[in-house]
Amino acid sequence: MKTFIRLISAMTLLQLLLGSCSDMGDPEILLPQLIVDVESIEFSTITIGATQTKGFRLINNGEGELQVTLALVQDSSVYSLDPQGDFNLNPEDTLNLVVTFTPQSNATYPAEILVSSNDPENSDLAIQVRGRGTAVPVPVLSLSDNQLDFGQILSDGSVQKQITLSSTGNDTLSIDSVTVEQDVFQVDTVFPQHLIPGTSISVTVTFEPVIAGNYDGEMTIYSNSSSSPDVISLLADAEEAVSYATSVQPVWDGSCTGCHGTSAGLNLSSYAQLMSGANSGAVVIAGDGASSRLIMKLRGTAGSRMPLSAPPLADSTIDRIERWIDQGALDN
Ligand code: HEC
Repeated sequence: MKTFIRLISAMTLLQLLLGSCSDMGDPEILLPQLIVDVESIEFSTITIGATQTKGFRLINNGEGELQVTLALVQDSSVYSLDPQGDFNLNPEDTLNLVVTFTPQSNATYPAEILVSSNDPENSDLAIQVRGRGTAVPVPVLSLSDNQLDFGQILSDGSVQKQITLSSTGNDTLSIDSVTVEQDVFQVDTVFPQHLIPGTSISVTVTFEPVIAGNYDGEMTIYSNSSSSPDVISLLADAEEAVSYATSVQPVWDGSCTGCHGTSAGLNLSSYAQLMSGANSGAVVIAGDGASSRLIMKLRGTAGSRMPLSAPPLADSTIDRIERWIDQGALDN
């Protein structure tokens, strides 16, 4: 009896061990991950009988196949969804969908798009859809962008970007005024402007900084569209220009011209001499400091490090010279 019990417990132990071993050996389960690029879909108010469409996307951001079912639920038949039904998406695949809205009366129409899938974390999802029909004409403002990024420029420069304001309703859009909160950004267009349906205007915004820094502003558009005030965010970055005369040539005069005056194949006694290059060719590629032979020699990544047989230049000095080249290697 005792032996029998011992045998059973030995077997149970063995089973446990085998069980946990085979768990560890199982291949990792690849899971799908559903991403929907909208939370809700909001149509503007449009005239009865007119049509508006909105697109959205489903993306499989996981590693396993995504099985998804799409259904449109509505009380009326003002919306249509294309495509609908069952879909399989491989990892990184995208499904593009279009919702069409054609109101039949003066009313607000709520609906839902149900998305069920095998994503364990997001298996049942509802996208709210809403649109309104009206008998009266309505003005609508549409923007080509809700952000203008001016990128990086030198603090003594300026740059311009365009934005298009369109009248997409069925009544005249009146844009009363446009305000910008920071005066480094300027708008050239004079307001008010009246746009009949189907027309648009292009507005130029100029970024002209005075001092270096990151600028983050807002442009606000006041109109008779129900979306008013519309806000466009403005992003820009201004960098201090590095001067050759005051920040670069003095480095050569202090550490290099002893050898690179007339000998050593490269003359560093002036901007013109530097840009005329060495016996082997150009040492500066304007706009690309990292690939310029001059910077490689200073960092010691192309043969002997410069200055030869002397301590290296400070990193901050090399960075500044590299920035001067990145900014276009100007004679400034
Ligand atoms: C002690 C003398 C000496 C000093 C100081 C010196 N160099 Fe040189 N440099 C040389 C010699 C010799 C060569 C050629 C051999 C070589 O490339 O290593 C050279 C080569 C170079 C080259 C490569 C030119 C080519 O043919 O492509 C660059 C660029 C350069 N030096 C920049 C500098 C800079 C910038 C400084 C100052 C921070 C400096 N050097 C300081 C002696 C010097």
